[in-house]
Amino acid sequence: MTGHLIVNDEDATRVITLRRPEKKNAFTQDMYRGLSDAIDTAQNNPDIRCIIVTGGGSGVFTSGNDLEDFLKDSTSTAETPRAASNAVKLLYSLAHNTKPIIAAVDGVAIGIGTTMLFHCDYVLASKTAVFSTPFIKLGLVPEGASSLLMPRTMGYQRAFAMLVMGRKFSADEAREAGFVNVVVAPGHTEAEARKVAREICALPADAVAISRKLLKLPPEDMTRRIDQEGHLFGERMRSKEAIAAFKGFVERKKG
Ligand code: COA
Repeated sequence: MTGHLIVNDEDATRVITLRRPEKKNAFTQDMYRGLSDAIDTAQNNPDIRCIIVTGGGSGVFTSGNDLEDFLKDSTSTAETPRAASNAVKLLYSLAHNTKPIIAAVDGVAIGIGTTMLFHCDYVLASKTAVFSTPFIKLGLVPEGASSLLMPRTMGYQRAFAMLVMGRKFSADEAREAGFVNVVVAPGHTEAEARKVAREICALPADAVAISRKLLKLPPEDMTRRIDQEGHLFGERMRSKEAIAAFKGFVERKKG
């Protein structure tokens, strides 16, 4: 496990903390792999009844994929850099996951930080949370089966505004749109998530698992969409639009 991802089992709850505060918890390849493994290894472990994903006390959830990595990926010679990446491994883990996942979002949730929430079962946000999926502004296309799950959860028009127009959603707007359960004070998301986890862990585990499966789309529907999006995403990564956007971010830093 890398220092950028902490996994702790607390009674029947696996708490996964993103911890790269100096980069606003931007995902590295190791973080994707670590989160994916932490979800996968919970599957056949009857002692784990619930998973919490949190940005810890950093005041951010995650700023999404590391944009310096995107820039490196976009000029790599690999045929399908993104589609073969650890991000897709994580998305597959989320699609196949059978344990309730609670997300504690305190601060920004960008890109995959927002799209992963549509695979979660319960989402808590702080009043300072801001959700955004700036894929199109980056010359990219939606990922993580978000093109399937977001219109299903929030309706087509809101999904278009967020996914295609790149509109940011506040915590209250996200609750109104149906992908946040509850809005709490900043600094309280994790404690509240633990309360929710205790509530879920107290329920009969098999009945939870069966009901959860009934509520969700079949994993193969999600992975099919993840593959379709991943293919297009991989192509877009090499587009002039995307490379210019990645360079813009990296050079903004230097300038
Ligand atoms: N990838 C790589 N580095 C990132 C990052 C990302 N996604 N998000 C933030 N960082 C880095 C910044 O480059 C900066 O690093 P530095 O201190 O070495 O210069 C550090 O994290 C702090 O970020 P900064 O932009 O100074 O903080 P801020 O509070 O002004 O803004 C964000 C925070 C998250 C709003 C802003 O950094 C941002 O928009 N990031 C890009 C988000 C994005 O487009 N992600 C891709 C989604 S597909």
